[in-house]
Amino acid sequence: MNKSYDVVVIGGGPAGYVAAIRCTQLGLHTACVDDRVNAKGEPVLGGCCLNIGCIPSKALLDSSEQYEKLEHRFAGHGINVGKVSVDVPAMQARKERIVERLTKGIETLFRANKVEWLQGYGRLIDGSHVEITAVSGNGDKSVVEASHIILACGSQPIDIDAAPLDGTHIVDSTGALEFQEVPATLGIVGAGAIGLELGSVWRRLGSKVVLLEAMEDFLCIVDQQVAKQAYKMFKDQGLDIHLGTRVVSTRKEGKGITICYRERDTEHEIQVARLIVAAGRRPNLNSTIAPETELVVDEGGDIHVDEFCRTTVPNVYAIGDAVRGPMLAHKGSEEGIAVAEMIAGQKSQVNYEIIPNVIYTLPEIAWVGHTEQELKSSGIPYRTGHFPFAANGRAQAMEETTGMVKLIAHADTDQILGVHIIGACASELIAEAVLAMEYSASAEDLARTVHAHPTLSEALHEAALDIDRRAIHKANL
Ligand code: NAI
Repeated sequence: MNKSYDVVVIGGGPAGYVAAIRCTQLGLHTACVDDRVNAKGEPVLGGCCLNIGCIPSKALLDSSEQYEKLEHRFAGHGINVGKVSVDVPAMQARKERIVERLTKGIETLFRANKVEWLQGYGRLIDGSHVEITAVSGNGDKSVVEASHIILACGSQPIDIDAAPLDGTHIVDSTGALEFQEVPATLGIVGAGAIGLELGSVWRRLGSKVVLLEAMEDFLCIVDQQVAKQAYKMFKDQGLDIHLGTRVVSTRKEGKGITICYRERDTEHEIQVARLIVAAGRRPNLNSTIAPETELVVDEGGDIHVDEFCRTTVPNVYAIGDAVRGPMLAHKGSEEGIAVAEMIAGQKSQVNYEIIPNVIYTLPEIAWVGHTEQELKSSGIPYRTGHFPFAANGRAQAMEETTGMVKLIAHADTDQILGVHIIGACASELIAEAVLAMEYSASAEDLARTVHAHPTLSEALHEAALDIDRRAIHKANL
């Protein structure tokens, strides 16, 4: 007889594992199916985020940031060090330890919450059955029954024909986190979040990095005032960013890769030691869904869902990167919680209007809500307030004076519509803006909230005051 559950979750990434834990918290008998194995061949939870995405990239971003600070910025503090060197294998080993600690942590959480981990490839057969092909052994197949199924199968990098991956010289974001030495020259296709973060890691460690981006505008989903500042800062750091370019072809030549690309109707060639393709991601459906199920997939490859993550098959939900919305771990996790609560009969929802975004470069870029260009094009009246970190005492003390906070409020109601931060600790500072917006705060609410001194958060306070041109620590012209 088939094993039977209240809920079976397909996928053990931040959307799936969070959904599974919340389900068991609510008393639902739950299993989570995942087929991921690590380099040692051991089954691991945590999906792309923990194993080959957010966490390992942040580990390398942090290591490379420490190195760059030591090399170039400590002298400004009056701290002199001798010759600094990088041990990439040691850096990678540290990254692996962090990944292992966190993925084992999910295993512990599963045990503590009594989530059953089914190690295999899950395939939706119909609205109440999942076929599992075991990771180990002979790939045995079994079928489990479930009253509710949650698809959380994640996403994978998009390949481009002009630069087929070879696993050594041309790699995707996973391969780019595995380099055991610093490539002298590094090409990156795509100047999005992944391209900029990985480009920053290897530039800081010594690579000469060139980014080839198809769009004419830099970071077009970011507030363009912030994007323009970021573009200049990245250029000054030495990231060679080419906008409006198309990679036409690549070929292996000598010890590296020759990239042929078109920029404003002219063809160019460059040689690089390594090339990273970071041209976006697509839902990871592969054969997760048997064709006989009547599950609708949208044109872009997303599983079609309504606002409550219900698919077109009754009792089957889909969450995370496999469905519409930004491909962000925290968005998937919140969907997982909301779906678990709905299955348990509670009312729950995700506020898609207020999802923070962060690009973990230096300076960091973080934002929530609308950009100025979005408000302009939809004709919503607004006012903006700005405050530069150069005028913030704590930023001066930290030698982190680049960047600013920009706050946008409705011109009539004063409700905060968007907050955009470029600067040190932007990823942490944005949380205050998210909370304020979640409670429909006005700029005046933030302006009247006491902020500790001296902290970077005062820049947010001052930006709120600046909506009415009454910021204290800058001239209000
Ligand atoms: P992305 O969509 O952010 O950026 C890819 C870029 O590649 C785009 O700007 C696109 O115009 C460009 N592109 C596509 N094809 C191209 C071509 N043939 N030649 C030149 N340029 C080309 O995708 P990315 O950076 O790969 O990230 C994937 C997903 O993962 C995104 O949804 C992102 O939000 C998420 N992510 C988020 C992170 C964060 O929040 N910090 C970090 C890493 C990824």
